[in-house]
Amino acid sequence: MLSSIQNHISAHPWCSQIQYFSSIDSTNSRAKQMALAGAPHGTVLVADHQTGGRGRMGRSFSSPAGMGIYMSVILRPQCSPAQLMHLTCAAAVAACNAITQATGLQPQIKWTNDLILENRKIAGILTELVTTGDQTCAIIGIGINCCQQEADFPEEIRSFAGSLSMFHSGCVDRSALSAALVQAFSHMSQTLFCQRSAIMDRYRTLCITLGKEVSVVRADQVRHATALSVNDDGALLVRFPDGSQEAVASGEVSIRGMYGYI
Ligand code: BTN
Repeated sequence: MLSSIQNHISAHPWCSQIQYFSSIDSTNSRAKQMALAGAPHGTVLVADHQTGGRGRMGRSFSSPAGMGIYMSVILRPQCSPAQLMHLTCAAAVAACNAITQATGLQPQIKWTNDLILENRKIAGILTELVTTGDQTCAIIGIGINCCQQEADFPEEIRSFAGSLSMFHSGCVDRSALSAALVQAFSHMSQTLFCQRSAIMDRYRTLCITLGKEVSVVRADQVRHATALSVNDDGALLVRFPDGSQEAVASGEVSIRGMYGYI
């Protein structure tokens, strides 16, 4: 797997920094440890299987062997955490571009970090920050379901989980897609600040949540609202039935569609 990924991007500066694991607990957890130990910008971890794949809000991410791409990238962006509010959105746009390039499919985005095809979640992104000395280090983790059929998913997510192969004729080349992801995240790291508004415009175009009736779930409180927009920090602007509006940040709340997952 590693050599096939590298064959696709042999001239890329990150090519020699890709590490492959046949099985690991979580590429994000390992990437955090490596970042704290000084791993450079552009270090990439890819696994065939995760025993403890993690998602947002303490959820698990199903990561069976041979079925998906489980990848984490270490970035050292030379800025403060406050300047990275739009990082997850930028990573989602980059991942959509990579999937389109490698498969011809065009995913949409459920705010903030879920990639969607035909109302099914086909990928999730988990962005985590660690500080080493005075430097901020960002870990972008992505899990993409590539080869599963509906029956392969755990029962609790079967009604809304999907994979690329459910919407793609023929099997998805995981090496080619992994290589496209590495290139897309590298390009994203170079354009994160200088093309911020263009990236966020693209995010808003792909964001399937906008205009929808949603439930804003914060701790044990659930409020109905209409999703209006996403600001340049990646916060979701919602309007509550009393007319009041609020920009909700992704760390604080999760959003559920009122009539299903989306
Ligand atoms: C989510 O759906 O909330 C985000 C899922 C992110 C999963 C990826 S798989 C690679 C990396 N390692 C992890 O433990 N999580 C991310």
